[in-house]
Amino acid sequence: MDIAKYFTGIRLNNSPGSPLYQQIAEIVTQKIKSRELPPGTRLLPERDLAVLFGVSRTTAINAYRLLEQEGLVRTRVGSGTYVADQPAEEKEVPWAQLFKSYNQSYASSVLREMVSASSSRAGIISFATGSPDPHFFPVQTLADLFSNHISSASKADFGYIPTDGYGPLRWSICEMLKGKGITSRQEEVMVVSGSQQGLYLLSKALLEPGDYVVMESPTFLGAIQAFQAAGAKILGIDPSDTHYLSLLEDYIIRYRPKFLYIMPTFHNPTGSMLPLKDRQDLLALAARHRLVIVEDDPYGDLYFEKAPPPSLKALDSYGGVVYLGTFSKILIPGLKIGYLAAPAILIKKMSFDKQYVDLNSNNFTQWLLHRYLEEGWLGGHLDIVRKEYKKRRDAMARALRRFCEGVEFDFPGGGYYIWCRLKEEGTVSRLLHEAVKNGISFVPGDAFYASAALDKEFRLCFATHDEAVITEGVRRLGKALSAVKKEEKESPRPLPAPPIV
Ligand SMILES: Cc1ncc(COP(=O)(O)O)c(C=O)c1O
Repeated sequence: MDIAKYFTGIRLNNSPGSPLYQQIAEIVTQKIKSRELPPGTRLLPERDLAVLFGVSRTTAINAYRLLEQEGLVRTRVGSGTYVADQPAEEKEVPWAQLFKSYNQSYASSVLREMVSASSSRAGIISFATGSPDPHFFPVQTLADLFSNHISSASKADFGYIPTDGYGPLRWSICEMLKGKGITSRQEEVMVVSGSQQGLYLLSKALLEPGDYVVMESPTFLGAIQAFQAAGAKILGIDPSDTHYLSLLEDYIIRYRPKFLYIMPTFHNPTGSMLPLKDRQDLLALAARHRLVIVEDDPYGDLYFEKAPPPSLKALDSYGGVVYLGTFSKILIPGLKIGYLAAPAILIKKMSFDKQYVDLNSNNFTQWLLHRYLEEGWLGGHLDIVRKEYKKRRDAMARALRRFCEGVEFDFPGGGYYIWCRLKEEGTVSRLLHEAVKNGISFVPGDAFYASAALDKEFRLCFATHDEAVITEGVRRLGKALSAVKKEEKESPRPLPAPPIV
């Protein structure tokens, strides 16, 4: 390689403040960094370099020494001077710098990682993730449906399907919704890859940075993250507070929120249920202000004693309720099928946005689920899981009363979760550390708040494990709790300073 050509026409200047060896080193550095001289290139011998720049051989040697100190060249004895491999950071694209900025509740993702890391450790009993028990997945029924129907299926069903979902499945979802008092036409229903995708599409269609969204406080972490990522500001309400409707009305007037996101039936994380009268009052207020309500209902079918009141969507008389459902919690998460029921104009907008990321979702699973629903398998499956999850809720409540004195909790009528509070001294962060040491994990309450929360609440999922494992897990939790109490007695910690507002 003729190196000299890279330096032709370059002149050094003779100003006293800029030694010649430094000038030469600077010129060579530029050629290395611009990759005109790639790693491994043999540079000119010192003698030739000196001739090229019209300097002494010592000046050329000093230039190479400087470059060597900076790690840009290396000398091989008896062979010459070569361009060194670039340090890693020089070679790599700085991906983190390229990410666009958006609001994300960083604390919650840290919590999530902490919980999931501990949940996957061998021997640990996790009450953290909202997972159904795989024992109940109707895998054999799905396998039979597949082998019974696949050969007679129209091959076109497995080609590209519309972005808003496989037509026959949308039809069977409409039929299923009819049974819940929700009348929707096919163009008012859209299939999504899990209701989390529905939340994302809603935020894409409706939210701009700076928009306000009203949410219950606490609420589902995935919804907080989807809305915050779209740049929304979150306003919190607590529907168990008797004045919450007037606070909501204040918010509507003052901030004109884009929508209210709410889980009226077996709430995640609290398990709470909005009574019928409150549903009617909420709808009357929303209709008066034409406020859009996003009703998320993954757990409504999982009632243990009596069926819940009709959904907000079923009671909606002003066309403002968007309904989100999923088969993840009632059937099997691996299907990754959720759905939205909303006015056709919004469905159209969301399927337009969906085209950019997910032009056609997986239609094998949509085809299979349609068969499952059409043949009426869901009812029997729900009867089984309701009975089993009820036993698990009871086992967890019994164990909490027995082993966890100092923890108060709400007793849910269905769903997946028991929401707990520490009545006495100690924080949930301390409890989680102690719990992980004792082989048990849960989600601390902070993860469900969009703003600062007292470190006193936590969520336990009772759906994943059988009664024996639940009892053992809560026993371990009780041990962790005793350790925290003991430590608090021996060296009480000051309460965290309240946030400056
Ligand atoms: C309230 C709520 N909405 C949505 C989802 C997301 O469900 P999917 O698996 O359908 O994306 C969950 C899952 O935990 C949830 O609890």
